[in-house]
Amino acid sequence: MGDIYEDPGVLAEYLLFHYGSANEILPPEVGWPAGMTESLDFAVRTPSRFSRSQVGRGLDLGCAVGRSTFEMSRSCEQVTGIDFSHAFIGAANRLREGHQEFYERLDEAHHKTTLRAVLPEGIDPGKSEFLQGDAMQLPDDLGTFDRVHAANLICRLTDPELLLARFPDLLNPGGELVLATPCTWLEGFTAPEKWPAGDTLTWLKDHLGSQFELKACGDEPFLIRETARKFQWTRSMLTVWRKS
Ligand SMILES: C[S@@+](CC[C@H](N)C(=O)[O-])C[C@H]1O[C@@H](n2cnc3c(N)ncnc32)[C@H](O)[C@@H]1O
Repeated sequence: MGDIYEDPGVLAEYLLFHYGSANEILPPEVGWPAGMTESLDFAVRTPSRFSRSQVGRGLDLGCAVGRSTFEMSRSCEQVTGIDFSHAFIGAANRLREGHQEFYERLDEAHHKTTLRAVLPEGIDPGKSEFLQGDAMQLPDDLGTFDRVHAANLICRLTDPELLLARFPDLLNPGGELVLATPCTWLEGFTAPEKWPAGDTLTWLKDHLGSQFELKACGDEPFLIRETARKFQWTRSMLTVWRKS
């Protein structure tokens, strides 16, 4: 299942998920349930869970097409977004360079609508960089960060404990880690023996608790549009940690 994030259709879904307007995702002529509209802008909401201050370096792991990386750059001097998908990193880089990214929103059957993603307003593209890479094998010389964000990544890794073990070295003392996970453990991504033995929150506390303080835990819903009539609605568990 690792290659799904190279698929052009999935790339288009993620461009819409990260950069689509409310009207492009949920056309206003339909009476959508409130829960759907409240689930928009996930890639803007999760970075907003960092504290308000301006900091130096940020890292966004599993950044996909880059919206959360750009949002982090509003309050970080420099942010690195890393994703395993060449297709996603290519799109993020083109947006950073100021290009428009045209994509096809699937409506149904052969019916598609061409849409355009652009760099969000107020973003200084010079503050972000995007790298293709593996969050389980990050380069030794990546340095340390004031903020690390990893949204909906952990349960897509073949060996998530490799990343959990790396977090203490990635964060500066006092640094913040925002982790979101829908806890959708699937054999296609992670072998069952690598899943948490109990619930995901207890597993995170067991791995991070000695070096991080858990500051907050809550839900962040998100909505990914597949067609005009089919959506993935998911409730991600978001935790905020502070490095001791
Ligand atoms: C469910 S998506 C979430 C993307 C984004 N953070 C969001 O919330 O929209 C999972 C992302 O993790 C990336 N990914 C999967 N395995 C990875 C790995 N080993 N290292 C880095 N990124 C990975 C995928 O390419 C994909 O972009």
